[in-house]
Amino acid sequence: MPKYRIAWMPGDGIGVDVMDAAKIVLDAIALDAEYIPADIGWEFWRAEGDALPQRTLDTLKTCDCALFAAITSKPNEEAEKELIPELQGQGLVYRSPIVRLRQTFDLYVNLRPCKAFQGNPLNFRDDLDLVVFRENTQGLYAGVEFHPLPDDVRAVLEGASPRMAAFQGVDSADIALSCRIFTRQGCQRIVRQAFEYARRHGYPTVTLVEKPNVIRETSGLMVREARKIAAEYPDIALWETNVDAMAMWLVKNPQDYGVIVSSNMFGDIISDLCAQLVGGLGFAASGNIGDDFAIFEPTHGSAPKYAGQYVVNPTAMLLAVKLMLDWLGERALAARLEEAIAAVIAEGQVRTYDLGGSDGTLDVAGEVVRKLA
Ligand code: IPM
Ligand code: MG
Repeated sequence: MPKYRIAWMPGDGIGVDVMDAAKIVLDAIALDAEYIPADIGWEFWRAEGDALPQRTLDTLKTCDCALFAAITSKPNEEAEKELIPELQGQGLVYRSPIVRLRQTFDLYVNLRPCKAFQGNPLNFRDDLDLVVFRENTQGLYAGVEFHPLPDDVRAVLEGASPRMAAFQGVDSADIALSCRIFTRQGCQRIVRQAFEYARRHGYPTVTLVEKPNVIRETSGLMVREARKIAAEYPDIALWETNVDAMAMWLVKNPQDYGVIVSSNMFGDIISDLCAQLVGGLGFAASGNIGDDFAIFEPTHGSAPKYAGQYVVNPTAMLLAVKLMLDWLGERALAARLEEAIAAVIAEGQVRTYDLGGSDGTLDVAGEVVRKLA
């Protein structure tokens, strides 16, 4: 029996293209694994009213980890219109499958390394080595949302917070509420993972990105817990910045930063900024990591207009494979793969359109395989 069972979820759009590139590389390194296809994506939403069917969750439970590429998502009304006629008008609501996966499997770390590879013409600077730890299950992604605001919820809020007076006279039908829910344990575990990573990889700082001067209770809880945890790591400095200022600092002095930790929504935003500093989403991979399961993905979306053309840059997907190998403990293979990717970028002989080239997705995979040899 192969050593690893890896769920295989290309999804749709260019997800399929970049997963084909991943397979070429995985076959070349001869990882001792079997790959179990699992249904996920827009076509399952249309045909079944669920982009993440229960059978996929069942398959994932039998696997060590999963590789996922990308899926299309659309706003509510459009999503409803694309359902097969039998499913329309039933009140089915599209919810992002990747967000559901993160929450269902309690994959509380979203690990997003953003490293500048030498020779990448899209680097903002060549001396960047950022690693974002994004909390991955709570905060504004908790999904506790209302519109209109239900009467009982409104009554409780009005009884509990004098600030609700500001909305007196506004019809409940005209109020939308999205709850930003943090737990103490949720704050602690993401911050701890960031510090552990910093220690293991020799980063001198962990930068906490929040907004406690305004969002006093949630950001405040994160900061208070982070300070306690930082005290256990005297060799690593805790830097605290507000998220707005951080956007500015990341453009002004990105080389000053290393490990960055933030809550779900702020981490989502900041990690896109970090990705762009090192060439854009074509170079950004994510590990959604829990205590005993993980899903690895490129950070980019499904880019439907390029689907099936095999023109997009597979580097983010290949870096997701690298993150997976690390997580599985296959460190030597992970290092070899990263070196091969770095060599292809440095030589610049095989380049997709985002890098000004005209080579295809699978050409890049083929070149990485040659460098592995
Ligand atoms: C990401 C994406 C997702 C997110 C979307 C696709 C739901 O932007 O992985 O960063 O918001 O987390
Ligand atoms: Mg995002």
